[in-house]
Amino acid sequence: MRHAQLLGLIAVTAGAAVLRPRAPAILNYPGIQFDSDGKLSISVFSDLHFGEPEWGTHRPNGDLKTVGVINSVLDNEHPNLVVLNGDLVSCEWVATQDANGLIDQIMAPLINRNLPFAATFGNHDASKTCSTKSMSDHMWYDVKGTNGNKLSFTTQSVSGDIDQVGWSNYFVPVYSSTNGGDLKMLLWFFDSKGGRKYQPTGVDVGVPNWVDEKVVSWFRDTNSQFRQQYGRAFPSLAFVHIPVHATNAFQQTGGRTETTNPGINDESIGQQGDLCDTNGNCPYTGSDTPFMKALVETEGLMGVFSGHDHLVDWCMKWSKNLPDTTPANGNGLNICFNRHSGYGGYGDYSRGARQIIVEEGKLGQDVVETWIRLENGNISGHVSLNSTFGTDQYPKADGTKSSGA
Ligand SMILES: *[C@@H]1O[C@H](CO)[C@@H](O)[C@H](O)[C@H]1NC(C)=O
Ligand SMILES: *[C@@H]1O[C@H](CO)[C@@H](O)[C@H](O)[C@H]1NC(C)=O
Repeated sequence: MRHAQLLGLIAVTAGAAVLRPRAPAILNYPGIQFDSDGKLSISVFSDLHFGEPEWGTHRPNGDLKTVGVINSVLDNEHPNLVVLNGDLVSCEWVATQDANGLIDQIMAPLINRNLPFAATFGNHDASKTCSTKSMSDHMWYDVKGTNGNKLSFTTQSVSGDIDQVGWSNYFVPVYSSTNGGDLKMLLWFFDSKGGRKYQPTGVDVGVPNWVDEKVVSWFRDTNSQFRQQYGRAFPSLAFVHIPVHATNAFQQTGGRTETTNPGINDESIGQQGDLCDTNGNCPYTGSDTPFMKALVETEGLMGVFSGHDHLVDWCMKWSKNLPDTTPANGNGLNICFNRHSGYGGYGDYSRGARQIIVEEGKLGQDVVETWIRLENGNISGHVSLNSTFGTDQYPKADGTKSSGA
């Protein structure tokens, strides 16, 4: 019954198959479950940048090496879910007919392990030659595990022009490992867009780079429907490729230290709402304000995870007023950067992925464990996103660069 109620909330689009109530033991993907050990383990690959030219001797076999990163992380972590958090492909280099082949290279390690995944699109996925809708459809209809099950959750639940709302706004319910599989948690996925309008025979036309207000309304409405039906807010996590402005304000005002927020901090953070001019200056426009407000006002939201900035991989707690930021105070919202996972794209730190562990038994206590799993198997920047995160002291992160880039 609960599931039937929940399904009423899910606006299935993308021409997707109608979602059926979750049949026990058949992961036909209305949602996922906490594992039998009571944990949910998520590996977040970000900025994979498949399909980039090799630039002569630079990064030969980059895509093959990136597949190696994915395999290594999955072998070390054995996650329940994979998140592909934007910039799967460097689509500005990719011909229309080649995009799905690159997606298939990313999918292979997931298919071999029958691993469900959820993608958000990034600014490099949307290009003149690449349609994020078409990539999403390929993942939805054509990608199946060796067990024959669909693996993709990636869809679009907000109606509107793709250049306005994007094509990866949806949620995934997480059910209990026991107890009749009750709903326990929500995972939210947002499209921060950017990139270019899809028009293979046209010119390059830029697309706004923030989460649109229509999407924000859908997020707020869906949350209030959950609250009405269940009488409470659910713990949740959110994923969006381009980070919100609060991260930049935190960095620029010196809020971060190497021991409270261990990680790489090697570039000025590019954020949603940056508007670049022809000289390469990109002043912030404030366009992500409605999205930030909604995030801050979402009760139970335990963390927001972004990529985009390859030379930043720390987590922060937004618990104080930040200048030029609306709202000024994040009420303790945790925000984390992922690790640059791909051999394509700028940046030469060792590649890796962000790992997230949530325990069913600790829901409601705001505890999320997270670290970076590196390609060589090492762990970097392990923090606990709990109530004292932001003041807790941790060892500095290992900042070594990989040889051979
Ligand atoms: C992995 O971590 C260990 C312990 O911190 C360190 O001694 C070793 O050098 C690291 N390995 C690599 C390849 O970075
Ligand atoms: C949060 O986690 C850190 C690291 O595990 C720990 O030292 C700290 O005591 C925790 N804070 C609370 C309130 O449990």
